Amino acid sequence: MSTVGEQDEGRPRHPFDVVVVGSANADLIVRVERHPAPGETVLGSELAVHPGGKGANQAVAAARLGARVALVGRVGADGHGRLLRESLERDSVDLAHLHDTPAASGIAMIAVGPQGDNSIIVAPGANAWLTEADVLDAAPLLRSAPVVSLQLEIPLPAVLAAARLARRAVLNLSPAAPVPDELLALCDPLVVNEHEAAVLLGVPGEPDRQAKSLLALGPRSVVITLGADGAVVAEAGAVHAVPSPRVTAVDTTGAGDAFTGALAWRLAAGEPLADAAAFAARVGAAAVRRPGAQDSYPTMTEVEDL
Ligand code: RIB
Repeated sequence: MSTVGEQDEGRPRHPFDVVVVGSANADLIVRVERHPAPGETVLGSELAVHPGGKGANQAVAAARLGARVALVGRVGADGHGRLLRESLERDSVDLAHLHDTPAASGIAMIAVGPQGDNSIIVAPGANAWLTEADVLDAAPLLRSAPVVSLQLEIPLPAVLAAARLARRAVLNLSPAAPVPDELLALCDPLVVNEHEAAVLLGVPGEPDRQAKSLLALGPRSVVITLGADGAVVAEAGAVHAVPSPRVTAVDTTGAGDAFTGALAWRLAAGEPLADAAAFAARVGAAAVRRPGAQDSYPTMTEVEDL
């Protein structure tokens, strides 16, 4: 697929299709027979360490599909930081604005159950050091990219600064947290799963109704991801259901980030939201078939073969 955008003698004027502002974490993953209840200890598998973090995951997902991507963020000058950089570099993500920081790299402790379901605890480390000034430093990149892709594993002032600079901001409200109305109004789309939608709205509900209620909070458009059931897209009062291919899930870690990264890229290429979400659902489905986050993300050929 070609990149569509402002063209100059056949070449896009913007250097990047998608600029991601967000987190990078080393994922410490243990498979468990069942998730422990509070106060309980369970034995798990050998520890596996994979590159992750919602921001870096979005960046790798989009880049592996063919997007030109830059990441604005922070990692520690440590072994995990090197692992994260190497993974991003393998997929040619631009790291000019990924700063080394005098703190440990972010870490996510992840338990994966037999159905591929996970629970995650994040120690933000260097991610918590990302400032509004870091984002303003990258302003030329953010202003020129067709899409800026965001999540909430970095401080809110940095997220808000990036959304203000963006031509089009895609925000995955994960981990779920209340955000200012100004940020919601800048989202096009706001991307949430059903749990995150319920946190924002204060009550669970049917996805179609949740999507309309979320739209009433101010974003220009909304996408609710539904895992194996695809997604619901809402914009300008219209709601569309988007299907997902059926696959056997091995590990769902990072599937939402793969969805958002793919969505951001297709929106940057000028696709309508419902079409971009349908493509993103295929990418998310492909990602759950292998363990890990970034390590599980598909190439374009793998998505076409699904
Ligand atoms: O969405 C999955 C990601 O959440 C993991 O890679 C982990 O790092 C946490 O950020």
